[in-house]
Amino acid sequence: MALDRDVFDQLIGTVRRFVAEKLVPREAEVADADQMPADIVRKMRGLGLFGLSIPQGYGGLGLSVEEEVRIIIELGRTSPAFRSTFGTNNGIGSQGIVIDGTQAQKRKYLPPLASGEIVGAFALTEPGSGSDAKSLTASARKKGSDYILNGTKRFITNAPTAGLFTVMARTDPENKGAGGISAFLVEAGIPGLTLGPPDKKMGQQGAHICDVIFEDCRVPAEALIGGVEGQGFKTAMKVLDRGRLTISGMCIGNAERLIADSLRYAREREQFGAPIAEFQLVQAMLADSETECYAARSMVMDAARRKDAGESITKAAAMCKFYCSEMVGRVADRAVQIHGGAGYIAEYGIERFYRDVRLYRLYEGTSQIQQLIIAREMLKEAAR
Ligand code: CAA
Repeated sequence: MALDRDVFDQLIGTVRRFVAEKLVPREAEVADADQMPADIVRKMRGLGLFGLSIPQGYGGLGLSVEEEVRIIIELGRTSPAFRSTFGTNNGIGSQGIVIDGTQAQKRKYLPPLASGEIVGAFALTEPGSGSDAKSLTASARKKGSDYILNGTKRFITNAPTAGLFTVMARTDPENKGAGGISAFLVEAGIPGLTLGPPDKKMGQQGAHICDVIFEDCRVPAEALIGGVEGQGFKTAMKVLDRGRLTISGMCIGNAERLIADSLRYAREREQFGAPIAEFQLVQAMLADSETECYAARSMVMDAARRKDAGESITKAAAMCKFYCSEMVGRVADRAVQIHGGAGYIAEYGIERFYRDVRLYRLYEGTSQIQQLIIAREMLKEAAR
């Protein structure tokens, strides 16, 4: 535990109340307007939610992975767009600096990320490079002591509001592998950096993504993460290992919410002269969802504790992301089924979660990429 138990219990209680009292009532408003209200963002900043994972020495709460996951599960009890507002600051938009940044990079960027003064984004994916991240073609050519960035990054979460991008680009054009890729910290608004229009998405309205385009964009040598070329792909993979645990936490929180909504509806809704919760076929769906959610929570807690103990969690994080994202998909599907026609109607909010959770099986590595990572790690272990 990074925090004193009482302090952590207070924090989790505060987040639980914030979710129930301030976020849940505004889910439909955020989704309909596709906009995160400024007063909500202010409250999130006030609660320290932008800096959950950032070390205390840099203005964050410095939570352990286990603590962070427990907070994320609470935040999962409402629409994922809320967590997305500060999710990148705790995860993919800051962890490259936390894990591999120089002292100067940490001092410069972590405090404003922790306070929410700036939003961080992670620019790995490209039009031609998604699952095969190593094939990226964005380039960073050395010119004097600067680097000149060219290329397009695609589907970049929080890019429209970002103040800082962690950008993976190829510094060695001769090296088409991971060793040719470096990671850079690029501030928004500099010449040569432009944004595409926000993409229209299937779900998670209120959270925005767009293209980030670099055209002869000059950044100083100090922008190179860790000051070392050729490490950018590994930095990205380490960031994703951690990110996959927090995404798993969101899947669990969303599943818990959907199960609670389904249970309530099943107890209230009467058919054939009785609440539908009394029918065994409905009970089977509830039981399946509850059991799978419990399994997911148990595995993520175990992986988080192992990460906190300093173990490599590449395989465990992939297993968590794979299982939890598939699990919440099944839970959301059953929630629609239990709600019947109401599950298909916007007013009840269930269909919105059904669309929202579909993303978990795609971003930060598809289910198929997680399977590939798990099997590869198994084979490596067997060969040792
Ligand atoms: N930690 C540290 N190093 C790692 C690593 C890890 N978890 N995984 C791989 N590496 C290292 C390898 O050891 C290897 O190092 P050497 O060259 O020194 O041997 C190097 O990185 C290359 O690894 P591989 O040869 O295994 O690479 P690969 O191309 O065969 O496979 C992959 C890698 C697992 C498929 C990877 O490309 C991957 O995870 N793909 C999915 C990409 C992804 O998740 N994208 C999500 C984008 S971000 C996002 O979605 C958020 C958003 O904003 C929407």
